[in-house]
Amino acid sequence: MTTFETSLQWHNRAKRIIPGGVSSPVRAFQSVGGTPRYFVKGEGSKVWDVDGNEYVDLVGSWGPMIVGHAHPHVLSRVKSAMEKSFSFGAPGPGEVLLAEEISARVPACERVRFVSSGTEAVMTAVRLARAATSRNLIVKFAGCYHGHSDSLLVQSGSGIATLGLPNSPGVTPGQTQDTIVVPFNDLNALTQLFDERGSEIAAVITEATPANMGVVPPVPGFNKFLSDITKKHHSLFILDEVMTGFRISQGGWWGKFGLEEDWTPDLFTFGKVIGGGMPLAAVGGSAAVMELLAPSGTVYQAGTLSGNPVATTAGLATLELCDAELYSALDSRAREVGSAISEALTAAEVEHSFQQAGNLFSFFFTPNHVNNFDDAKEQDTSAFAVFFHSLLEQGISVPPSAFEAWFVSGALTDEDVEKIAKAAKVAAQQAKLRSS
Ligand SMILES: Cc1ncc(COP(=O)(O)O)c(C=O)c1O
Repeated sequence: MTTFETSLQWHNRAKRIIPGGVSSPVRAFQSVGGTPRYFVKGEGSKVWDVDGNEYVDLVGSWGPMIVGHAHPHVLSRVKSAMEKSFSFGAPGPGEVLLAEEISARVPACERVRFVSSGTEAVMTAVRLARAATSRNLIVKFAGCYHGHSDSLLVQSGSGIATLGLPNSPGVTPGQTQDTIVVPFNDLNALTQLFDERGSEIAAVITEATPANMGVVPPVPGFNKFLSDITKKHHSLFILDEVMTGFRISQGGWWGKFGLEEDWTPDLFTFGKVIGGGMPLAAVGGSAAVMELLAPSGTVYQAGTLSGNPVATTAGLATLELCDAELYSALDSRAREVGSAISEALTAAEVEHSFQQAGNLFSFFFTPNHVNNFDDAKEQDTSAFAVFFHSLLEQGISVPPSAFEAWFVSGALTDEDVEKIAKAAKVAAQQAKLRSS
């Protein structure tokens, strides 16, 4: 019998049975080349692959592992939930407690409905917005990713940007005819659109801060502008906090910036952190809109595993650890790691734009600040690929794409940060050799 031991062997085996060898495209390393690592263990800030290598983890499962891997508090709660069964397909206390926790952190979420992925959460929010307004048009921003539902898979970020695809075959013109795409941070384009078609627009959806084309902070006042213009035209404002929800602050992006800038969306979508690494996501909003959902109302939405007891337990146990102290630690770690890397790139004379939004950050290999998706596409992705592989070889795991945010966790140590800083110096030199 053949034994499969290395990541390479596993990946060759995977490609024979799973398209591209992966369950989600960006994991395949297609844009950076090489073989994805097959991870088998995580603890705190570290992950280990089947080859026996240890890495400091700056991916964090693309966001959920905010307190680090296999945190003892989360682990013990999940273990005891699992002993009582994995699923009932019936209501349970876990979902009620988690919904209450979300509502306590974001009071505008008077009602919360759980689903299993961010894609489903956004799909539901869009359906609700259309039903609530009796309008069809949805406005999204180029480079923002809201999951892979048909109507939103237009000029998306994340894997679509990583693979350089404009769109996806299989999505028909009919499915996207009611989606209008506008450049991010472009207030004039949006004003003009609302002047022309405001009465047809059901909702504007945005990532709270785009982080799926790399991190592109909204210009000051942008989200407030979205809130005001949608109100004026009786459209809804959907804030996609799948990435930022409860990662940026105790109340997510809205809790930090919405409160400060005095704006509140009509609907929120959450995912990632609220499941603590389990498949869980949610849509939340005012009772008036959310009660349109079946069975209270007639907008249909359902899921066999929605509100799963193990997933809601993992999410609640994770959120219990997400206090002011954790967010202040995440902000400091993001500053330390981001600056150390930016300094290494500067010292090696690698042109780059280090961009931060809360504790999310990323590096564009371009000299100019990136304000939208067109700017993001200007970067030198081949220099990023060299930088990425050098970091990986030195035991630092970062997203295998120049179009993704990096994630810090509360488990990072001073020693980890030193290791990252040291590795970044070598990686920056190698990226410089590649770009010169
Ligand atoms: C902002 C945003 N919305 C939606 C999604 C889709 O979530 P999921 O991958 O759980 O379907 C993502 C995933 O990265 C995301 O970042």
